[in-house]
Amino acid sequence: MLKRLRSRDNKPEYPGKNIEGEKTWLRKLERGDLSKSLNWLKDPSINMFLSQEFRDLTEEQEIKWYEYIQNSSRDMVFAILDRSNGKYIGNCSLNKIDTEKRYCELGIVIGEKDYWNRGFGTDAINSILEFASSNLKVKTIRLNVYKYNQRAIKVYGKCGFRLKRILRKDHLYGGKYWDTMVMEYRCGHSY
Ligand SMILES: CC(C)(COP(=O)(O)OP(=O)(O)OC[C@H]1O[C@@H](n2cnc3c(N)ncnc32)[C@H](O)[C@@H]1OP(=O)(O)O)[C@@H](O)C(=O)NCCC(=O)NCCS
Repeated sequence: MLKRLRSRDNKPEYPGKNIEGEKTWLRKLERGDLSKSLNWLKDPSINMFLSQEFRDLTEEQEIKWYEYIQNSSRDMVFAILDRSNGKYIGNCSLNKIDTEKRYCELGIVIGEKDYWNRGFGTDAINSILEFASSNLKVKTIRLNVYKYNQRAIKVYGKCGFRLKRILRKDHLYGGKYWDTMVMEYRCGHSY
């Protein structure tokens, strides 16, 4: 029998239990996660890698966004936990989910900076790619990453993303225009 991928109101279904990686667990983002999440997004040393709009994000706007994703049929947001101690260390998301086109986009932030470069991002991405492929039956996952974010580019490459195209000098940061790399992952495709 075909596994049900969507609830009756057409929202993609979160798994009933944590998605288990080797170092991380992923679970649905909860209301109680928002204040930490907001602090991460407003931190200049983190939001330089994300949308610059997050700099001025308010608590009200974040709550509105959280309420929006509760009813969204196109977005799923997960909290990333350190599997060894249950600590909440970041978020990852699938956005613009289109089950007809079997397409979505990926976002990730490890907000606890002392967790950077310790394999948690790689592990969380591998888990969410497996979830998107197996549960949502997505075939193509895309993301945008600024060229100066070499750590993220390295991680995406390790996880199987390949450069699709370059948006030349389309991102202004630090008084300079930077390229944005569009990277793509093809589920079940070995390059
Ligand atoms: C990008 C991010 C998700 C990566 O997660 P992470 O847990 O820090 O990364 P990992 O430890 O899994 O892997 C980091 C890899 O990058 C390498 N790396 C680190 N800094 C690097 C740099 N400046 N240039 C090239 N490679 C670098 C590490 O050596 C490691 O590779 P290795 O495992 O082969 O040694 C995380 O750092 C993060 O959230 N950063 C801030 C927000 C962000 O950039 N989000 C992505 C927006 S597109």
